[in-house]
Amino acid sequence: MTADASPRRVLVLNGPNLRRLGVREPDVYGSATFEDLAALCRDTARRLDLHAEVRQTDDEAELVRWVHEAADERLPVVLNPAAFTHYSYALRDALAQRTAPLVEVHISNPAAREEFRHTSVVAGVATGTIAGFGLTSYVLALQAIAEQLAENAG
Ligand code: DQA
Repeated sequence: MTADASPRRVLVLNGPNLRRLGVREPDVYGSATFEDLAALCRDTARRLDLHAEVRQTDDEAELVRWVHEAADERLPVVLNPAAFTHYSYALRDALAQRTAPLVEVHISNPAAREEFRHTSVVAGVATGTIAGFGLTSYVLALQAIAEQLAENAG
């Protein structure tokens, strides 16, 4: 980054029920809140010379619109699609239009859970997937984005 360049924006998008982190099935998702997650992402991004905008929605249409925004503005995305992971072809089709790196993240390891979680309809259009490391999944995803951007620039 040059001295006067502002940090590259990254969208950290979260799907349904993730605002309820901390109260939602803490045995699966831990006791940290969504605000804790957002702060962790913003701090991690800052250390990587990125600027993270952390958003959450329970609404598929809103999430699709944010993915269009990312595609139009060439913004890299860290995405936890939550339950949409397993069935939203609308989200997959939106993500297929991406113009920058996309990392799918999960707090839990869906492959080690119920059968319906073993399918991700978005994995095939992502740069890669990180799952099963709790909130650290987001830290690893942001590191992967930073490396992808450095590679693509070089
Ligand atoms: C999740 C896993 C999904 O199966 C689930 O529907 C979620 C959260 C995760 O982060 O572990 O809502 O994406």
